[in-house]
Amino acid sequence: MKMTVRKKTMQTTIAPVADPVIRTERLTLRPLTQLDAARVAELAGDWDVARMTVRVPYPYTLVDADEWIRSISDGEYVRGMELDGTLIGACGYVVDDSGAAEIGYWIGKPYWGYGFATEAGRAVVAHCLGPEGFKRLVCCHFADNPASARVIRKLGFRLIGSCSGWSDARQCHAPTLRYEQTRSWSRFLGGRAA
Ligand SMILES: CC(C)(COP(=O)(O)OP(=O)(O)OC[C@H]1O[C@@H](n2cnc3c(N)ncnc32)[C@H](O)[C@@H]1OP(=O)(O)O)[C@@H](O)C(=O)NCCC(=O)NCCS
Repeated sequence: MKMTVRKKTMQTTIAPVADPVIRTERLTLRPLTQLDAARVAELAGDWDVARMTVRVPYPYTLVDADEWIRSISDGEYVRGMELDGTLIGACGYVVDDSGAAEIGYWIGKPYWGYGFATEAGRAVVAHCLGPEGFKRLVCCHFADNPASARVIRKLGFRLIGSCSGWSDARQCHAPTLRYEQTRSWSRFLGGRAA
C-alpha cells in the first residue's frame, strides 16, 4: 500500500512540560491507553517491527500489548504517534543507569519511509534536551537495522561503540551499535545533523 502523505518540514511545537501531548507538523504524540492495545499488537506484532526492538516478543498478542500499556510506569515516557487520528507507532525514552535518556521508537510497516520516525524522534530529542533537562541522550539499534541507523544519525547522535543486545522477538542476543548525544554536542551541531 502506498499512501499520499504530506511532505514534512522542520516545524515542531513543544508543549509545556505539564502537557502530555507533543504536536509535530504531521503527528500528535500522546499517551497510550488500553484502547490502543489492538492497534499496537497489530503494528508492533509484525515480525519486521518486532525483531528490531528489544522488548516486543514474537508472536505479539493483544494480551501482550495490553499488559505492556498497563505496565508503562510514571518514570517511563512513552507516546503513541497519531497521524490524522490513526495510531501509526510509538516513541519515547527511559532513563538508563547513568541518568541518560535512552530514546526508542517503532513505526508500523505501512508507514515506513515517510519521515515519521525522524519527525517524532526530533520532537522527543528536543523534549529531552529542553523541558526535561537531560544533558545526555543515548540510543541503540541492532547492526542489521540500517533504517534506524539513518534515523539516529539524522537526529544528531554519534556512534560511541558496539555491544551485544537482547531481542525478545529473536530470543537471542544480536550485535548492537550504541550512540550518544549531549546537550553541548547538539548545540555545536545546530541544524547540521544530516
Ligand atoms: C527504523 C524505523 C523506525 C524507521 O521509520 P521511518 O519512519 O521509515 O524512518 P524515516 O522515514 O524517518 O527515515 C528512514 C531513513 O532510513 C533510510 N532507509 C530505509 N531503509 C534503509 C536501508 N535498508 N538502508 C539504508 N537506509 C535506509 C531511509 O531512506 C531514510 O533516510 P533518508 O531520509 O535519508 O532517505 C522503522 O523502519 C521501524 O519501525 N522499524 C522497526 C522497528 C525499529 O527498527 N525500531 C527502532 C529500533 S532501534
